[in-house]
Amino acid sequence: MQHELAKLADIPETGSILIPFFGREVHVFRAGGEPRAVANACTHIGGPLECRDGKFICPWHGATFSMEDGARLDGPAPAGSRLMRLPTRVIDDALVYVWGRD
Ligand code: FES
Repeated sequence: MQHELAKLADIPETGSILIPFFGREVHVFRAGGEPRAVANACTHIGGPLECRDGKFICPWHGATFSMEDGARLDGPAPAGSRLMRLPTRVIDDALVYVWGRD
């Protein structure tokens, strides 16, 4: 299965864009210049995430997460937890969600 998330040209150098994803949302952004996608869901109790000051921040109770690897940095989210990163691949001019053998 393949599903285009965003054109590379539309992914900002800083911050993120929110993309609808099968009834949910994902943040698409760049980390170290590489395009990535993570689920818009805090690992505490699922709050939405804001991308600010080079990290993801949950406005519900203040958890923060790294944009590099999704690791929890601070707040009530479980220690050692990480944001859910989607498997993606750059295909032609787009970042594409890939699942399975394709
Ligand atoms: S749901 Fe994100 S910190 Fe509580």
